[in-house]
Amino acid sequence: MIRQLLYALLMTGGAAMAQADDLPDTALKQPEAQAWSFSGVSGTYDKAQLQRGFQVYKDVCAACHGLKFVAFRDLRKIGYTPEQIKAIAAEYEVEGEPDGEGEVHKRPARPGDYFPAPYANDEAAAFANNGSVPADLSLMARAREAGADYIHALLTGYKPPPAGMEIGENNWYNPYFAFGEAIAMAEPLADRMVDYGDGSPQTVEQYARDVSAFLTWTADPHMERRKKTGLRVMVFLLLFAGLAYCTKRQIWADKTGQEPK
Ligand code: HEC
Repeated sequence: MIRQLLYALLMTGGAAMAQADDLPDTALKQPEAQAWSFSGVSGTYDKAQLQRGFQVYKDVCAACHGLKFVAFRDLRKIGYTPEQIKAIAAEYEVEGEPDGEGEVHKRPARPGDYFPAPYANDEAAAFANNGSVPADLSLMARAREAGADYIHALLTGYKPPPAGMEIGENNWYNPYFAFGEAIAMAEPLADRMVDYGDGSPQTVEQYARDVSAFLTWTADPHMERRKKTGLRVMVFLLLFAGLAYCTKRQIWADKTGQEPK
C-alpha cells in the first residue's frame, strides 16, 4: 500500500517535470492570465460559453484541426439536446462499416461516432498546410502549460513582426507561439466570422475566449465532478481531524486530578 502510494507520488511528480521539460518554450511572451468561470477550486463551466466555443470550433477550426477524443454524444454534457446532436453529427462523414464485399463507404456520422479528422492522414494534412500538421485539439489545453490562457493569447496575438524581423513564407508572427515567433497557422479568426445567436459580441476576442473555454472542456470534461469530490474530501478530512483531536484529548485526559510528577 505505502509502496503503491509512493510510486504514484513519484510518477505524478515525474510526469509534471517531464511535461515542463518536453516543451522547448521559446515563446517571446507569456500568455496573460484571463478570468475563467472554471478557475479556482469551485469553478464551473459556463455551458452557454462552451456552446459558443463549439460553434467557433465547428465553423472555423474544424477545417484544419480534428477533435478525435470527443464523440458527438458528449455534446449533451454541454447542453445540446439529442435531436440537436443528431443534426450536428449528420453534417460530418465518417468511414462506415464494411459491406458484404468488404468495401468501406463513407456515411453520415451518428451521435456515437467521434469527430472525424479533417484530413485522411498527416501527409495529407501537411500537404494542405505548407508542410505543417495542424494538431488534434482534443487535449491541446492540457498539452500547453498555460492551457486556456495560452490558446486565447495565441488566437489574439497575431501582429505585424517588429521592424527588422524576417518571417518566412507561409508563416506569421505570433509572440505567444510556444515554438518560436513564427507560426504556420494564418490568423484563423476575424470579427463577425461566426454568427452567435445569443447576442454575445462577435469579435476575435470573444471567439478566442469561447473556443479556449470549449477546448478546456474537451481536455478536461470531468473537472466539475473532480472539484466537487475534492471539496467533499477536504471537508471530511477536516471533520475527521477534529474528531481525532477530541478523541486524543479524551484518551489522554488526566482523570486522577493529580499533578504530574
Ligand atoms: C487553415 C488551417 C487552420 C485553421 C482554420 C486553424 N488552424 Fe490552428 N493550426 C494550423 C496549423 C498548420 C498549425 C501548426 C502551426 C505550426 O506548427 O507552426 C496550427 C496550430 C494550432 C495550435 C497549436 C499551437 C501549439 O502550441 O502547438 C493551436 C492551439 C491551434 N492551431 C488552434 C486553432 C484554433 C482554436 C482554431 C480555430 C479558431 C484554428 N487553430 C484554426 C492550421 C489551422
